[in-house]
Amino acid sequence: MKALEEFPKRFVDRYGSSPRIFRAPGRVNLIGEHTDYNDGFVMPAAINFNTWVAVAPREDRKLTAYSENLAEGAEFDLDAPSPRPRHDWSDYVFGVAVMLQQAGERLRGADLLILGDVPLGAGLSSSASIEVATGYALLNNTGLAIEPVALAKLCQSAENNFVGMRCGIMDQFISCCGHAGRALMLDCRSLDYRLLPLPPDVSLVICNTMVKHALASGEYNKRRAECEAGVSRLARDLPRVRALRDVTLTDLERYGRDLPELVFRRCRHVVSENARVLEAAGALERGDAAAFGRLMAESHRSLRDDYEVSCPELDMMVDLAGHAQGVFGARMTGGGFGGCTINLVRTEHIDEFKRTVGREYEHATGREPQIYVSPAAEGAGEVQT
Ligand code: GLA
Repeated sequence: MKALEEFPKRFVDRYGSSPRIFRAPGRVNLIGEHTDYNDGFVMPAAINFNTWVAVAPREDRKLTAYSENLAEGAEFDLDAPSPRPRHDWSDYVFGVAVMLQQAGERLRGADLLILGDVPLGAGLSSSASIEVATGYALLNNTGLAIEPVALAKLCQSAENNFVGMRCGIMDQFISCCGHAGRALMLDCRSLDYRLLPLPPDVSLVICNTMVKHALASGEYNKRRAECEAGVSRLARDLPRVRALRDVTLTDLERYGRDLPELVFRRCRHVVSENARVLEAAGALERGDAAAFGRLMAESHRSLRDDYEVSCPELDMMVDLAGHAQGVFGARMTGGGFGGCTINLVRTEHIDEFKRTVGREYEHATGREPQIYVSPAAEGAGEVQT
């Protein structure tokens, strides 16, 4: 990224001291959508779009942050008795500070400069990448170390308890723990994970519908509540059930008959999606891109019809990809209601894919899409300057 070259210098110009720099990536999810908060399975990969946070200590107990993308600054008092969210980007930064302090760390004051190239509101986890890069910056600035998994949990709690979005662990986890060249299959209950090879000659192609997933968090929290309603009904007959993770399709058919129809469909998505992730892991291990692609298509249909988190533009993008050459599979990725699709495309067909899908999508919707190609990237860490 061009703007990164002068990043340390701009920090010096703004704050007068020289910084350390931390980076955290966004992510794409290959399969396993809306399963993380049901204790289920997900299979994301980190991408080479990042947030960078430059940091240097201050003598007082303040945090000052400046977002280069938004050309906007914000300030936070580490001794404020009951900090409240401001409902803007700074919540992702200060929310992490609040959680760290609540966990008993006494943070040192800091100047922060923030720069990112993860598209905002596109379902590629720009917020998790800000949180994770900020977490590393604030901890290192105070002379403290943290394990990646612990940082992921802390950042998730910032989002749940400060920002007010009841997200699962997937986005923060992959931003912390991603591995170059690998997809990561995560068990969101135990947090055990397996690294899986991506098929050779196949690329991850991300198509941004350019529909922002605004208002999605209300619908997201609603889906969570519907899943919880399903669990409490099913647990009456199946006391071992603590989350939809513990339910099979046979259980659902047998004991889910008197669930409201809507709740039944929500549960059917989650239960079938968990099974698809396990199958998809097997397909990657066998190097079977075609089988993986079929599971992606089923996942999309389930998200569209049962979970109802897709939108016409996502459906259109998936449809067009289905007709393009060299495509193994396509589906929406992330929370939904806009944002991006993920496509597994034979590398030699990428240029043609971009041309045809780009042109046809624009023709059908009047929106010019952005199409990115990314390798599976490494998780967060310090950038050596
Ligand atoms: C958002 C959330 C994740 C996950 C996905 C849907 O990205 O932050 O925790 O629930 O939606 O799979």
